[in-house]
Amino acid sequence: MQAFTYQVPTKVIFGRETEQQAGPAVQAEGGSTVLVLYGGGSAVRSGLLGRVTASLTGCGLRWYTKGGIQPNPVLRFVCETLEEYRDKEIDFILGVGGGSVLDTAKALAAGLPRPEVPVWDYYSGKEKPITAIPVGAVLTIAAAGSETSDSTVLTNEATQEKRGFNAEWNRPRFAILNPELTYTLPPYQTACGVADILMHTLDRYFSDVQGNELTDALAEAILRTTVRFGKTALVRPDDYEARSELMWCGSLSHNNLTGLGRTKDFTVHQLGHELSGRYGMAHGASLAIMWPAWARQVWTRDPARFARLGRTVFGVSEEDDGQAALAAIAAVEACFRDLGLPVSLGQSEAGVIPEEELEALALGCSRGRSRSVGSFCPLDHDGLLAVYRAANH
Ligand code: NZQ
Ligand code: ZN
Repeated sequence: MQAFTYQVPTKVIFGRETEQQAGPAVQAEGGSTVLVLYGGGSAVRSGLLGRVTASLTGCGLRWYTKGGIQPNPVLRFVCETLEEYRDKEIDFILGVGGGSVLDTAKALAAGLPRPEVPVWDYYSGKEKPITAIPVGAVLTIAAAGSETSDSTVLTNEATQEKRGFNAEWNRPRFAILNPELTYTLPPYQTACGVADILMHTLDRYFSDVQGNELTDALAEAILRTTVRFGKTALVRPDDYEARSELMWCGSLSHNNLTGLGRTKDFTVHQLGHELSGRYGMAHGASLAIMWPAWARQVWTRDPARFARLGRTVFGVSEEDDGQAALAAIAAVEACFRDLGLPVSLGQSEAGVIPEEELEALALGCSRGRSRSVGSFCPLDHDGLLAVYRAANH
């Protein structure tokens, strides 16, 4: 087991009607003037935004609301909002939504206190974040895990680059998790969320470090639970038990609990970000496309690892590790397919793409051939290109 520091300070407030605790939760963190962010309108239509702001008012807090954050959130929105709220003395940002809203909240939280730094500099790695305004979350979709993670991901629409940065300041002070809020999700978004939770776990499960039995067991429990209740939530969107299990899996899958003691891989996420940056593809769908192609490219590096995944999570019974590994990959792919997700580029909105676009994706992912990606099986530009090619059918 590698050495690690594990500190996840986010207070989790879980259960029915917990959004009514938004006001007291902000107050407990010392907030007085709150910028409440939301997305394209689902939080307005469901009445959630009204309940949250009523709770803030009930605690005597000042608040502004700002909506219009799109999935795969963009830099332009962040820059415009910074200009709009620069002088409003905002001391707390509350995101009401999913990963896109929360990641935008984190971008604004880093941008507001340091107007001299262009926000994109944090995402391009030019500047290190040193402070941020506190952020809180009222989560409406079990997916990205941003409600407890230390990361934020943004797209620079001018360059089609989708980039993220990690910092302890990025972890929300609290996360309000009411599973009932996810009943209104369209099936495709539920499915994308399930894929993302699985991939936050799998992108840590495959690593160059072995022998973390507890970490493995936690990861496998999250994978089994997510597969099982993902199916239930698609059949019965208002099944409280299924939505609860998914919501908690989503938070635990990406707060690094499932990666303790080992090096993260995250190749599939990096491959997927290029697809979202270029084609605007939903994050979970991009992962469902890239994982099977990645797995078939790298499984021979450690067949026993893939075999263990198959046996512990998908009930694979083949005794030979090689056969069990291939059965495991087929099982994950079938799981994505059953969720209604694309498992190749040809099944996605991008369609089968020309060779020069594959090359552009590989160049983006390898940062112009300057880096290899992953720890389980590090892939350079040519390795990444081979995976994109394998997904292009
Ligand atoms: O905008 P609204 O109208 O709210 O609609 C959203 C959006 O269209 C809808 N939705 C969310 N909750 C709903 C709902 N519709 C009805 N009822 C509800 N209760 O779902 C759509 C997707 O929302 P979004 O926030 O984009 O989903 P998600 O949570 O999957 O976030 C995706 C973003 O997070 C990033 C992704 O790259 C992507 O940009 N990620 C962030 C991470 C992090 N910060 O730790 C890690 C992840 O790996 C990921 O990269
Ligand atoms: Zn993800």
